[in-house]
Amino acid sequence: MSKKKKRIGILTAGGDCPGLNAAIRGVGKTAIMEYGMEVIGFRSGYSGLIHNDYVELKESQLSGILTLGGTILGTSREKPFKMVNNQGEAKDKPVTILQNYENLGLDALVCIGGNGTMKTANMLSMEGLNVVGIPKTIDNDVWGTDVTFGFESAVDIATEAIDRLHTTANSHQRVMIIEVMGHNAGWLALYAGTAGGGDIILLPELPYNIRSVCKKVESRYEDNKPYSIVVVAEGIEKPDKRSAASYIADAISTYTGLETRETVLGYIQRGGSPAPFDRILATRYGAFAAQCIAEGNFGTMASIINNKTVAVPLSEVGGKTRLVQPDDPLVIIARRMGISFGDEFLK
Ligand code: F6P
Repeated sequence: MSKKKKRIGILTAGGDCPGLNAAIRGVGKTAIMEYGMEVIGFRSGYSGLIHNDYVELKESQLSGILTLGGTILGTSREKPFKMVNNQGEAKDKPVTILQNYENLGLDALVCIGGNGTMKTANMLSMEGLNVVGIPKTIDNDVWGTDVTFGFESAVDIATEAIDRLHTTANSHQRVMIIEVMGHNAGWLALYAGTAGGGDIILLPELPYNIRSVCKKVESRYEDNKPYSIVVVAEGIEKPDKRSAASYIADAISTYTGLETRETVLGYIQRGGSPAPFDRILATRYGAFAAQCIAEGNFGTMASIINNKTVAVPLSEVGGKTRLVQPDDPLVIIARRMGISFGDEFLK
């Protein structure tokens, strides 16, 4: 009697990013062609798992998506275990998920997402589902891996924008402030700011003060460099509801009298075709996740540590955020390049 084919589900959850389809393709092609598995894809992240909203993924559906931005499955920020009543327990969403998982005859579930997705994946694993996570986000803030796919593509997009701001800042002798995403982490601002030759980089992890920022801008002006590029992470400390870019631009203009303009890069950092680096990284993650399933290595997240693919327990990942450390090698190098983190007068 032929052995029953393993049947696996894939979902993409949280903010989208370039590389999601490369990851879906990596899981699906490896599962189908290497391990003879059947694959289904749940639509709109965990919401599809709750509402049994899925599509069969054959090898044909996985062709032509390597370079495609976004996710063919769609995504959502559904959190099945989110407390929904004052007793604090989740209502029936997890039960429904378990029933759908069983009724569909699934042997495993691949959850592709960021921090929140890994936290839910770990909770589903603790409920008895065979789960493997893949770390995705432009923020690069998932604990347990060196780099998430989506990050490099966003760095490329933000760096290209910063490059363009140099010419207009120089032409108008202005201070240009560009706000990049990253949620509560400063990885995108640190990498794009350094790659783009920013003069000042403000990170949520490194407290700044506006006096230092203004002194840096004024000292450049006095050094016959009458323009500056200020790269701010969206999550920096600020006194009100204005965007980080608006707050910093207004403060510099008020205290120095210099002309400022701001750009909030926003969702452009999440769109379009993945950079080649992310196509490869997402494919590596996907293929390794399928291997973990074949080897019965569940309750894990596919990770890259020192450029090796390893399986990290989801229990170590869930609910944690990987933040920029003050002694991060790139922070030290950026300071040596004369980049200010707005903290010179905090010492
Ligand atoms: O997590 C990715 C991210 O783009 C963050 O950088 C940003 O703060 C957030 O998503 C925006 O969330 P939403 O897509 O729900 O507006």
